[in-house]
Amino acid sequence: MTTTWVEPSGTASALLLLGRGNDPGSERGVDCPGELPAPSDPNLVARARAAKAALGEQVFVLGHHYQRDEVIQFADVTGDSFKLAQQAAARPEADWIVFCGVHFMAESADILTADRQRVVLPDLAAGCSMADMAALPQVETAWRRLADLGLAGSTVPVTYMNSSADIKGFVGRHGGVVCTSSNARRALTWALERGQRVLFLPDQHLGRNTAVRELGLELSDCVLWNPHQSDGGLTGQQLRDATIVLWRGHCSVHGRFTLECVTAVRDRVPGVNVLVHPECRYEVVAAADQVGSTEKIIKTIESAPAGSAWAIGTELNLVRRLAGAHPDKQIMFLDRTVCYCSTMNRIDLPHLVWALEELAAGRVVNQITVEPDTAAHARAALDRMLALP
Ligand code: 13P
Ligand code: SF4
Repeated sequence: MTTTWVEPSGTASALLLLGRGNDPGSERGVDCPGELPAPSDPNLVARARAAKAALGEQVFVLGHHYQRDEVIQFADVTGDSFKLAQQAAARPEADWIVFCGVHFMAESADILTADRQRVVLPDLAAGCSMADMAALPQVETAWRRLADLGLAGSTVPVTYMNSSADIKGFVGRHGGVVCTSSNARRALTWALERGQRVLFLPDQHLGRNTAVRELGLELSDCVLWNPHQSDGGLTGQQLRDATIVLWRGHCSVHGRFTLECVTAVRDRVPGVNVLVHPECRYEVVAAADQVGSTEKIIKTIESAPAGSAWAIGTELNLVRRLAGAHPDKQIMFLDRTVCYCSTMNRIDLPHLVWALEELAAGRVVNQITVEPDTAAHARAALDRMLALP
């Protein structure tokens, strides 16, 4: 049974909540043509199964670890951003890649797959607020400033996977590399072997945590470029002296964890191990016992001894699944309040069912395509990442 989607009042939050209309100022181009099944439809799981079975080998479903349970059960492969980028090209025989993740991941999948393969994002409103914090014109302004100071030739741009294809294209065009949270140390090392400084986009926390905690640089070797201030709010001398020019972006999910969360959980649970994602702030990572990408978090919990206690600072869907999968360990969320990634959560069962059923009916919906010139340069930066030692 399907019901007609009723448009709520046209406020910005209503657009974000329901994914209708357009938001050209951000990565969230939003529109869902056609009729979505109602979230209350009791047959959604059966419908998703039937549509996926009808599509057979033609469809390959990728799911990021932060997806909801109801969606992740339909993924052929689950992983962090790095594993999903590697896996995107793993099924050349599939006509359609359905990406249960966010927009920048689907763009990377489009870049890494064959031209005939088409990538579908079940809800186009599944963007990323961090990726939206670095727009191409802003990054070009920063680069022009470096060029005016005679520093661009000795600066290597590195962008976190969590950035738009435009930014990856910019980085590829300027001889740089993409990184993820699981290879940021190797990417920064690679870049510093080729230049005197790095422009790190768009996550200041991953850049700072990697540079200081993993490469042994000083906090004072890093400066923060604020795209909303003239010249990034930095003097020429500050830029000349810097080894890492961090972009002022952050993850709205991981940025919520504070030092107080760490101290509070240590008070509440004696002996607890604090395990956080490197998108968390520097002081949170410094106070934690361990830090790692989502894949590393999963592996750490899998190999932890029974009876051990873990407070985890990453997205809540993953923490809840880990807690359910390891009842012999005490697993808790680092914050006391709810912390889902709202854009990842846009991919819900109604949108997945809708996308799969449309594909089964021969209609490709919500296709993600990257313009060829951008794709070629972004591909160079992604290939450099995949070839990192
Ligand atoms: P990883 O998948 O690289 O751990 O990154 C987490 C994240 O925020 C994805 O959006
Ligand atoms: Fe973006 Fe953070 Fe959500 Fe990842 S968890 S998609 S970085 S907002």
